[in-house]
Amino acid sequence: MKLAILSRAPRSYSTQRLRTAAVDRGHQVKVLNTLRFGIDLSGDEPDLQFRGKQLSEYDAVLPRIGNSITYFGTAVVRQFEQMDVYTPNTANGISNSRDKLRASQILSRHNIGMPATTFVRDRADVIPAIERVGGAPVVIKLLEGTQGIGVILAPSIKVAEAIIETLQSTKQQVLIQRFVKESKGRDIRALVVGDRVVAAMRRVAQGDEFRSNVHRGGTVERVELDPEYERVAVRSAHIMGLKVAGVDMLEANDGPQVMEVNSSPGLEGIESATKLDIAGAIIDYIDNQVAFPQIDVRERLSVSTGYGVAELVVHGDADLVGKSIGDSGLRDRDITVLTLHRGTTVIPNPFAHHVLQAEDRLLCFGKLEEMRSMIPARPKRQRRVKKLPKQPIPLG
Ligand SMILES: Nc1ncnc2c1ncn2[C@@H]1O[C@H](COP(=O)(O)OP(=O)(O)O)[C@@H](O)[C@H]1O
Ligand SMILES: [Mg+2]
Repeated sequence: MKLAILSRAPRSYSTQRLRTAAVDRGHQVKVLNTLRFGIDLSGDEPDLQFRGKQLSEYDAVLPRIGNSITYFGTAVVRQFEQMDVYTPNTANGISNSRDKLRASQILSRHNIGMPATTFVRDRADVIPAIERVGGAPVVIKLLEGTQGIGVILAPSIKVAEAIIETLQSTKQQVLIQRFVKESKGRDIRALVVGDRVVAAMRRVAQGDEFRSNVHRGGTVERVELDPEYERVAVRSAHIMGLKVAGVDMLEANDGPQVMEVNSSPGLEGIESATKLDIAGAIIDYIDNQVAFPQIDVRERLSVSTGYGVAELVVHGDADLVGKSIGDSGLRDRDITVLTLHRGTTVIPNPFAHHVLQAEDRLLCFGKLEEMRSMIPARPKRQRRVKKLPKQPIPLG
């Protein structure tokens, strides 16, 4: 294949390793400075210029977009997507993961464990927000920090309030997050490539530092991950829209808690900690997927007027329960079942003989009018039953 690596750091360890891995496997590869692209929307088809000249044909692109150029970098990646060039990480995926609030919002409906987080604006809402996540000590984070910069542990509510006020006065937005004490300055970095975790390490903070980032002096060691941690890492990356990602998780008492998903994970620390050829795994994965450029399914399938994609839920009392998909009458109503979700399992392209159960969720393509009656009413939010705290609450 012919691969473009988008990077502004051609000499960095990660870029070099990826380039070498591609060359070793007989691929054509170029490292292209992301900032030298021109997005061209003047012709009939989406196009790209590089250093002022028309870009030659590529089969795949591997974006390594730095934090400081997210807007321009994702625009370039999006243009590659429009040109049907395969990318493991979509422009959307990169933007989603870049902003810690946006990432948490997207993950929060998918049953992924995360440290309790709140985001408020008004001064009057700060103290209640801190209390909602468990009180002091509390973690305060800038939305777009990296390498541990912009992550602060405030020992008391007073200090937290002062920090938040200071940051907000300089127009910085901050998250308020529960401090996961039991992780004791350690966290897990899982490197996801495609559908699996190819390598994982534990990072341990130096001295009394609570941030385990390597840039903050953290040390790294190889770990064998629990299947639960692997599952959460892979799901988090996929939900974000990333097939190559570094997923950071805290080891909390009740399992993995995802802090962030990185779309351009550094390879040096994790390759040296694990002695694994991660660059090679990334290149092999891209080579394997190159025939499948990103398609926005919903967008493409909605182009026929009156048709679209919807998720239908099999109601317990409906006459669909106990019927096979073939006998359900869906096909006669011009509705095709794309996937069947049952609990946490997914059956893609289910056969006609699959028998439907109550609470099955069917992702369908069909006439919107026909599907309307089957779309579940917007669920009324029920107050979740409050979990009892681990420690008994001390009596007043
Ligand atoms: N809620 C938390 N509880 C305990 N430690 C945390 C928490 N959030 C972050 N940390 C520590 O701080 C480090 C940096 O936080 P992170 O959200 O990953 O920001 P960055 O993007 O700067 O790496 C983490 O690797 C972890 O060691
Ligand atoms: Mg991090």
